[in-house]
Amino acid sequence: MTTLVTQAGSGDDAAAPVAPSDPSPADASPSAVDHPTLGPLDDARAQLAFAVDHLGLDDGMHRLLATPRRELTVSVPLRRDDGSTTLFLGHRVQHNFSRGPAKGGLRFSPNVDLDEVRALAMWMTWKCALVDVPYGGAKGGIAIDPRAHSQAELERVTRRYTSEIMPLIGPEQDIPAPDIGTDERTMAWMMDTYSVNVGHTVPGVVTGKPLSLGGSLGRASATSRGVAHAAVLAMRHRGLDPDASTAAVQGFGKVGRDAARLLAEAGVKVEAISDVDGAVHRAGGIDVAGLIEHVDATGSVRGFEGGEEIDGAALLELDVDTLVPAAIEGVITEANAARVSARIVVEGANGPTTEAADAILRERDVLVVPDILANAGGVIVSYFEWVQANQAYWWSEREVNDKLAERMTKAWEAVLLQATRHGQSMREAATCLAVARVTEAHQLRGLYP
Ligand SMILES: NC(=O)c1ccc[n+]([C@@H]2O[C@H](COP(=O)([O-])OP(=O)(O)OC[C@H]3O[C@@H](n4cnc5c(N)ncnc54)[C@H](O)[C@@H]3O)[C@@H](O)[C@H]2O)c1
Repeated sequence: MTTLVTQAGSGDDAAAPVAPSDPSPADASPSAVDHPTLGPLDDARAQLAFAVDHLGLDDGMHRLLATPRRELTVSVPLRRDDGSTTLFLGHRVQHNFSRGPAKGGLRFSPNVDLDEVRALAMWMTWKCALVDVPYGGAKGGIAIDPRAHSQAELERVTRRYTSEIMPLIGPEQDIPAPDIGTDERTMAWMMDTYSVNVGHTVPGVVTGKPLSLGGSLGRASATSRGVAHAAVLAMRHRGLDPDASTAAVQGFGKVGRDAARLLAEAGVKVEAISDVDGAVHRAGGIDVAGLIEHVDATGSVRGFEGGEEIDGAALLELDVDTLVPAAIEGVITEANAARVSARIVVEGANGPTTEAADAILRERDVLVVPDILANAGGVIVSYFEWVQANQAYWWSEREVNDKLAERMTKAWEAVLLQATRHGQSMREAATCLAVARVTEAHQLRGLYP
């Protein structure tokens, strides 16, 4: 199955080949905008609606910004190692490319569905605009549990999915990167599949590649470094000394693991860490390097002897200064937001706080550093990877990290200024700044025809 939908927009974007279209998959009807059901897409739409209202944009612009530019849903048949066949569903959504080629991760998770991918693509548009990298927003996903498959099976799934979405991606069209359940190995397979099909090597079709294939120093830990940087800025803003403060980190994957390590290096006592299998707690701080060794050896935080086991959900409510949700969306909800004890929440994950929870945290004066700011380090260094590849000149890790810190600080200051001036939360301020930039780009380009 292949479903491709395109939305009218400004005309100077590279046009992708068009397959049969479904007239209303993104459902930009007023009811979809005004009366959301629950889920990340509804959170994303509610955030956009706030910005549209604040900026005084008209209904036409609201619908345009609420609707993905293109969506493609594909079947991904897998020949299993035992010779049987299993079918998976994959998606690629390009939300907006008024400011440049679409950019966004590829997720392998059993819970992936089209609405989740739509939400994540919209957040990517705002994130790229907020940190002023010349990209639009996209996201991709396959509804598959990577832990249930061999490397050979994951390679075949990645290659088949890549060949199915080939008409949409490319260094000037849409550039995937790692997300939940994918890594630099996945990016190498995508790059190779794309390159073999076009007949020459195209390193710029993905970012987050292995170093030996043109990846950037510092990319692997860039999202985490940005999260840690944002956390320290937030602590200082709230008058906390990082050296004398505590934190809990949910998720110990590509983002959570290095965020915990870098926070510990900044002097923060990281007292609790979780993954999908469980959570560990140690008053006074976990030995993060020791936990990394344990997880590398066993595949899970469970059974770590340097702390006591606690319930994963309890981690979110621990009495720490800073909470870093760095796993999945929708974990801080109306049901638990009132029990979050941390005074600062730094969103390493995309969409970890629901709209209703956000209001409760704000009421309780909890400072929430929103995802589109807190976890933007990954796309910033993806942009650096792209720039370095174009120049065929690679920077030192120190240069990458310094430039990353500079951009994170600049974005933080801009958001804080907007929030202070307009009495907004950091999320409201970040979304308004980003939506204004995307709207300006769209208006300058005009509508084709
Ligand atoms: N990788 C990036 O560069 C990047 C950039 C920006 C945002 N993000 C976002 O960060 C989040 C994590 O991405 P990642 O790349 O680290 O993924 P990952 O697959 O490398 O790691 C995910 C981690 O979360 C854990 N987890 C899953 N469900 C959980 C649960 N219910 N409770 C506790 N832990 C749970 C997993 O066990 C794993 O440790 C996602 O929201 C992703 O969209 C990632």
